[in-house]
Amino acid sequence: MSLQEDSTMKKTTHSCFLLIILLIRMVPSLSSTVNYTDPTLEPVVTENSVIRQKIIDSQFKCYERMNRAPPYKKKGLFCNRTWDGWLCWDDTPAGRITAQNCPDYFPDFDPTERASKYCDETGNWFRHPESNRTWSNYTLCNSFTSEKLKMAFILYYMAIVGHALSITSLLISLAIFFYFKSLSCQRITLHKNLFFSYVLNSVFTIAHLIAVVPNPGLVKRDPASCKVLQFFHQYMLGCNYFWMLCEGIYLHTLIVVAVFAEEQRLHWYYLLGWGMSLVISVVTVVSDQFFQVFEYL
Ligand SMILES: *[C@@H]1O[C@H](CO)[C@@H](O)[C@H](O)[C@H]1NC(C)=O
Ligand SMILES: *[C@@H]1O[C@H](CO)[C@@H](O)[C@H](O)[C@H]1NC(C)=O
Ligand SMILES: *[C@@H]1O[C@H](CO)[C@@H](O)[C@H](O)[C@H]1NC(C)=O
Ligand SMILES: *[C@@H]1O[C@H](CO)[C@@H](O)[C@H](O)[C@H]1NC(C)=O
Repeated sequence: MSLQEDSTMKKTTHSCFLLIILLIRMVPSLSSTVNYTDPTLEPVVTENSVIRQKIIDSQFKCYERMNRAPPYKKKGLFCNRTWDGWLCWDDTPAGRITAQNCPDYFPDFDPTERASKYCDETGNWFRHPESNRTWSNYTLCNSFTSEKLKMAFILYYMAIVGHALSITSLLISLAIFFYFKSLSCQRITLHKNLFFSYVLNSVFTIAHLIAVVPNPGLVKRDPASCKVLQFFHQYMLGCNYFWMLCEGIYLHTLIVVAVFAEEQRLHWYYLLGWGMSLVISVVTVVSDQFFQVFEYL
């Protein structure tokens, strides 16, 4: 039984999974495309009130920031701090390109990409040659979105298929362990528990992938069922790692501490494997709720 291989595979799956979650955040709302043109300083005219509110909030924060920031002290020409209709830009020395992360107002804008603004040699913000208006470069914000989206979908389905395969093979292993009584010994008992925690972890992960990930509305409403699923998901993930720890401790005890001892008491392992993660998950949930209540006060 190559335990090590199995756990590296799991680790890869988990990092893939995180990547998917990051990317998929922006997926589903994309179906409702929003019509937008370049940012303007005129009052924001989008039909979508959520987007309008976001932009107005940013604008308010930007004007506050521009008032608060100390005046430009360095020598030489510079471009004045400004609000371009979408983002806030600080004082910038002449001849410099300044950049910041893209805003998240629109579903096809990727906040991990960079928007840039060029301050020319004369200390004026770059004007677009076509419109002759000051212009920030937001082209990168949505140029790779569709490719990234495709990649995210592929990873999403790969994760579901991978977890399904994982469940199938683990169930076969468990069946073998239970069927052949001659295999039963303490080490196998630990394996059974470890495998079982893997199965449950994959089940909850698939449930999360299918029920929660494509539904950002659900996440926003955050109903009780979502919280329960999240709790068990986290609990099983913890159990998984604690059972790996148990395997390690068991082998260590077997080899280093008690070479001649026949049997170890397993109930401590059960407590560590299934109990420790429960404690951690409960503490997480309680403190989460506590801080949420705290924020409202
Ligand atoms: C977006 O707006 C432009 C100009 O306001 C208009 O010509 C175009 O048809 C609109 N596109 C959609 C999909 O509504
Ligand atoms: C820069 O902006 C400030 C306040 O908005 C203004 O008082 C100042 O005159 C501006 N400077 C230049 C060089 O445009
Ligand atoms: C662009 O606008 C600026 C200021 O509004 C003006 O000084 C300049 O002549 C214009 N350039 C062109 C090519 O129209
Ligand atoms: C905007 O930025 C992209 C990427 O850096 C660049 O290829 C493009 O030429 C820029 N557009 C303008 C008008 O400068």
